[in-house]
Amino acid sequence: MCGIVGYIGHREAYPVIIKGLQRLEYRGYDSAGIMLYDNSELKVSKTKGKVSDLEARAQNEITLNGSIGIGHTRWATHGVPNDVNSHPHLSNSGNLCIIHNGIIENYEPLKKELINRGYTFKSDTDTEVLVNLIEEIKKKENIKLGKAVQLALNQVVGAYAIVVFDKEKPDELVAARLGSPLAIGIGDGEFFVGSDATPFIEYTSNAIYLEDEETAVIRLHKPLKIRKIKDDTTVDPYIQELQLNLEQIEKGGYEHFMLKEIYEQPNVIKDTYRGRLLANTGIIQMSGVEDNIEKFTNADRILIVACGTSWHAGLVAEYIIEEFSRIPVEVEYASEFRYRNPIITSKDVVIAISQSGETADTLAAIKLAKEKGAFVFGVCNVVGSSISRETHAGAYTHAGPEIGVASTKAFTTQITVLTMIALRLAKVKGTLSNSDYFRYLQELEIIPEKVLEALNTNDIAKEIAEKFKDSQNCLYLGRGYNFPVALEGALKLKEISYIHAEGYPAAEMKHGPIALIDEKMPVIVIAPKQGHYDKVVSNIQEIKSRSGKIIAVVTKGDTQVKELADYVIEIPETSDALSPLITTIPLQLLSYYIAVLRGCNVDQPRNLAKSVTVE
Ligand code: F6R
Repeated sequence: MCGIVGYIGHREAYPVIIKGLQRLEYRGYDSAGIMLYDNSELKVSKTKGKVSDLEARAQNEITLNGSIGIGHTRWATHGVPNDVNSHPHLSNSGNLCIIHNGIIENYEPLKKELINRGYTFKSDTDTEVLVNLIEEIKKKENIKLGKAVQLALNQVVGAYAIVVFDKEKPDELVAARLGSPLAIGIGDGEFFVGSDATPFIEYTSNAIYLEDEETAVIRLHKPLKIRKIKDDTTVDPYIQELQLNLEQIEKGGYEHFMLKEIYEQPNVIKDTYRGRLLANTGIIQMSGVEDNIEKFTNADRILIVACGTSWHAGLVAEYIIEEFSRIPVEVEYASEFRYRNPIITSKDVVIAISQSGETADTLAAIKLAKEKGAFVFGVCNVVGSSISRETHAGAYTHAGPEIGVASTKAFTTQITVLTMIALRLAKVKGTLSNSDYFRYLQELEIIPEKVLEALNTNDIAKEIAEKFKDSQNCLYLGRGYNFPVALEGALKLKEISYIHAEGYPAAEMKHGPIALIDEKMPVIVIAPKQGHYDKVVSNIQEIKSRSGKIIAVVTKGDTQVKELADYVIEIPETSDALSPLITTIPLQLLSYYIAVLRGCNVDQPRNLAKSVTVE
């Protein structure tokens, strides 16, 4: 968690860093801070709150000039989010300045040792311990900053992406990473550092992604030096050309990133299957799958590990893969899987799903599965992310940057990739009839048009949001393929509107949640015509007879549910298996409008961060 930015070059660093921090606010927004160096003066300004609070404060506190600087936006782990705990942190001498994303797990013994050596600490953070450890080593060994950082990190247990500045060597920045991402942008006579490439996308399209346990010494007008932290070997920098463009990371006229991302779904689903799905000829080609096809088809079972919304996509995939390709599938929260000594064999295929590709628990689950000999396949959105590099093979969802903290387009593109995998396996195993296989391929190809049509539910979603914006609780029900959609609908609502919401398989209602139903309880029922329609209609009747307020997502032209429900949201007809791609759209819109009407910060809900790089 946390976003970090650095700049060294010929421009004024302040606007580069502030804009970069704004783009990284999705990674945390408890506090923000900046360091600028100019005319032998090291200037720090930091504050609890957002980057906008930092801007207001910095203008009064420091002069904003200087062409070298670092900045940080924080998601608190050690120490409450207040001014003192905000980054950057200075060493005791005031010469070293650090920004850090991650957790130093053994900071307490290190801190004790430093206190014994006379160091004092202002904050409660693990980061202040690290900067003083670097200072102590640098002094004691009489070595340069790069080497001191390396030696200090060898003593550290935990995860980090750091950038360090030394007043005694003001033409360089030292960066390092383990478990938290770090990109270095290479411009003409200038360098940028970021937790991802968004802070520097308008300045350069050349970037290096540091690997775990690497440190980089970034010096003005000198080639970049990368070394392995453990054995001090040099690494040749691998420069990548970035695929991002500025328009992709801006709001493009929408009030919020979340709304923009909801509306992007028809296009990004198409981007996700483009070149991989050729419906007319019946071809599905994904190199990561093709190169390992026997691993999949010979697998005893597929284990899916993920967190949050990605876990919900995994649940949809469980239904689809078992139905289409008849391979047993189990879906687990990565955080549970990694600690419960699971039984994994070399005959298992593990699929790890992650939008960010940086989720700490998912990453740890992957490492565990690999240790136990399983083949691990990643479904990630962020290109070059840790998970995409840690897995044996994978397929990217081409959703583009997802900035809104609440995941929307990542979910539907993950389902798209997983559906293609299920279809490909079905083809090889012969578990679907030819006609069904072609029917699904053709249907998947026109899903973007149906998603576009489903976006027409915008107005009714707004109207329903107006009615229910003051609710305190909400129940989401669905069956079969739409049970995970109910879970996802409830998650969306709670995370951005702070209304308590539960998702349930509709038939489970009778086993407890029915006790909650009264005239104040909105119940959102996903009831498309395909699937277990009649059963869901019976569930709706049970809600109605207890005076619950029914909002039903139905197939266009439905009459039966219309008679029972207080509100219906009509969506285009789809097969049961592909319906989650459509039914989820009005639920995203409903949550969005309820959150807007409640005055919530939709793109940056409280206590959340986009990329959960701590467990
Ligand atoms: C919910 C949400 C989170 C993420 C979860 C996993 O809207 O965004 O629940 O889905 O933190 O993140 P990734 O997919 O990046 O591993």
